[in-house]
Amino acid sequence: MKISGNINETRTIVKEWKQQGLKVGLVPTMGYLHEGHLSLIRRAKAENDRVVVSIFVNPMQFGPTEDLASYPRDLDRDAGLCENEGVDLIFHPEPSEMYESDFCSYVDMSGLTEELCGKSRPVHFRGVQTVVSKLFHIIPADHAYFGQKDAQQLAIIKRMVRDLNFDIEIVGCPIVREEDGLAKSSRNTYLNKEERQAALILSKSLKAAKELTENGEKDAEKIISCIRNIIHTEPLARTDYIEVVDFDTIKPVKTIKGTTLIAIAVYIGKTRLIDNIITA
Ligand code: PAJ
Repeated sequence: MKISGNINETRTIVKEWKQQGLKVGLVPTMGYLHEGHLSLIRRAKAENDRVVVSIFVNPMQFGPTEDLASYPRDLDRDAGLCENEGVDLIFHPEPSEMYESDFCSYVDMSGLTEELCGKSRPVHFRGVQTVVSKLFHIIPADHAYFGQKDAQQLAIIKRMVRDLNFDIEIVGCPIVREEDGLAKSSRNTYLNKEERQAALILSKSLKAAKELTENGEKDAEKIISCIRNIIHTEPLARTDYIEVVDFDTIKPVKTIKGTTLIAIAVYIGKTRLIDNIITA
């Protein structure tokens, strides 16, 4: 396995693979890998001849008061995990390699980026779209793998690829959870023991919502109040949002029909966690 921090070198390696007729899968990450990331890598391994994992804590997608400085990083550990999974190349650039000092070009979108996480993180998705576009240009892969854990991000990337004709197929992958239900996340490392226990309220409330919908409930307001009431029982939890939206447009719906995303963001102490379910 090779690790490169260089854009030209990475592009040359991937282009050579493409010239040999090999299929290339890309898994974009910010590192501090866990089973959620590994599930994407395994899927990429199964569906491609070569797998590239990018590890880059992208400054552009963090707001000024967010956790860019404290975001967990451990390249040696990540490299070991990638090696074990049979990854062929890690792309791990420095911020200065990705962003020249006079960088001023952005990829943005209206609509989808203004809902859910976009309300409390106004520059976040512009940063995600810009860096993912750059990664798609640097690593001309056939498939790119994204988790449903970040469902709004997945919807935005799919739409960006469609709208801007990127020649890459986006593959969405299911949420990987801890045994007790908590969705795996690099940010779970911020939780102390008490908060870790309290964080179960997210998956618990979504489980109850899922049962409601499986029993035929279609009214978004009723689903939202079921979730809200459960989250209220946890003193360490503070709700950012609870929303029921169409998965393609990320616009709120009154009634569940088609592919509907039930998404929540909740502060546990100072840590903001997100989770969701998608009803078919
Ligand atoms: P990061 O948070 O590191 O996540 C990388 C990928 O792993 C994303 O597609 C995310 O949805 C997926 N993932 C995270 N936790 C998961 C879980 N529990 N189950 C399944 N998939 C999971 O998302 C980002 O990085 C960045 O925004 C990025 C796309 C790399 C752009 O900087």
